[in-house]
Amino acid sequence: MKLLITGGAGFIGSNFIHYILNKYPDYKVINLDVLTYAGNLENLKSLEGNPNYQFAKGDICDAKLVNELLQGVDAIVHFAAETHVDRSIMDAGIFLKTNILGTHTLLETARLNGNIRFHHISTDEVFGELGPDDPPFNENTPYSPRNPYSASKAAADHLVRAYINTHKLPATISNCSNNYGPYHFPEKFIPLVITNLLEGKKVPLYGDGLHRRDWIHVDDHSRGVDSILHKGKIGESYCLGGGSEYPNIEIANKLLEILDVSKEMIEHVKDRRGHDRRYRMDITKMQADFGWSPEKDLETGLRETTEWYKNNSGWWQRVKSGEYQDYYKKQYIEIN
Ligand SMILES: NC(=O)c1ccc[n+]([C@@H]2O[C@H](COP(=O)([O-])OP(=O)(O)OC[C@H]3O[C@@H](n4cnc5c(N)ncnc54)[C@H](O)[C@@H]3O)[C@@H](O)[C@H]2O)c1
Repeated sequence: MKLLITGGAGFIGSNFIHYILNKYPDYKVINLDVLTYAGNLENLKSLEGNPNYQFAKGDICDAKLVNELLQGVDAIVHFAAETHVDRSIMDAGIFLKTNILGTHTLLETARLNGNIRFHHISTDEVFGELGPDDPPFNENTPYSPRNPYSASKAAADHLVRAYINTHKLPATISNCSNNYGPYHFPEKFIPLVITNLLEGKKVPLYGDGLHRRDWIHVDDHSRGVDSILHKGKIGESYCLGGGSEYPNIEIANKLLEILDVSKEMIEHVKDRRGHDRRYRMDITKMQADFGWSPEKDLETGLRETTEWYKNNSGWWQRVKSGEYQDYYKKQYIEIN
């Protein structure tokens, strides 16, 4: 198979590329990424020189470039997005451009190139928030996004559904809960806690810290997407989650314990505006259709992830200092 993977220099996309080329060494991967602040080619350093991997620096909104890259491609796996809720609260414009118009460009180009197989990566946040006793979200939960990031992802999901219905585009969607693991940009909660503690800095915790998330290791997400890409039913959506629902404060406490640091290092800060209280996914359909379940339990995953950040301090220090953005200038092949 030849895959066009968008946003492959980001957290989940880069883990997915490693996963795919490890599991299917004969597959060919083109990674289309514009390298925003969240894109880091160092995540893919070990693939340099691999003849089955190619990096193309470019924007998913650039129809001409996408069209060129799609020649000979069997499937698109679409990760590229603006992803940080706090940034969407400060300035939503780029979220609408990339997440909605960018997804539309990919859908339209896929359609015009003979209806190329399309898998769209989305989030549990499109469903809004759960009350304390609500059952988990599932594939039939009505959409109810509550911040500009989740609204832009919801709009993208609706466009994918529209192309499935109107143009018979062979597409699938996955909505996944919060990921963690290697190469996670340290503005996000778990890597922020780990890297701040490794630097001896306090960790900021929004509000009362009782916001609950359903954590999944990024490799389990990749395995789920692999199943859907190869065996998924066209037109369907699939919910993925880790089955590890915890309040943020408990996650922070677990990391303090792993790193043997005192609880005084937690600093409660003013809550995020409109902060969703709780997410959780019902994964019954993934289990029934593919026998998929998350394999990594949270305790093991957090320990391994902490170990990864300890062993790769150069990676996150270059991210925190901004130096990582120079890396691509030495490495990439200009395509357009
Ligand atoms: N992180 C999570 O917990 C989570 C959970 C569920 C779903 N998702 C979804 O998974 C996908 C990947 O998330 P992530 O956490 O890896 O994000 P990320 O922010 O780490 O990476 C996003 C990548 O997309 C690239 N990109 C942004 N705009 C682009 C554009 N216009 N053209 C080309 N590339 C562009 C960036 O350079 C970056 O490499 C997103 O669609 C996100 O909504 C994330």
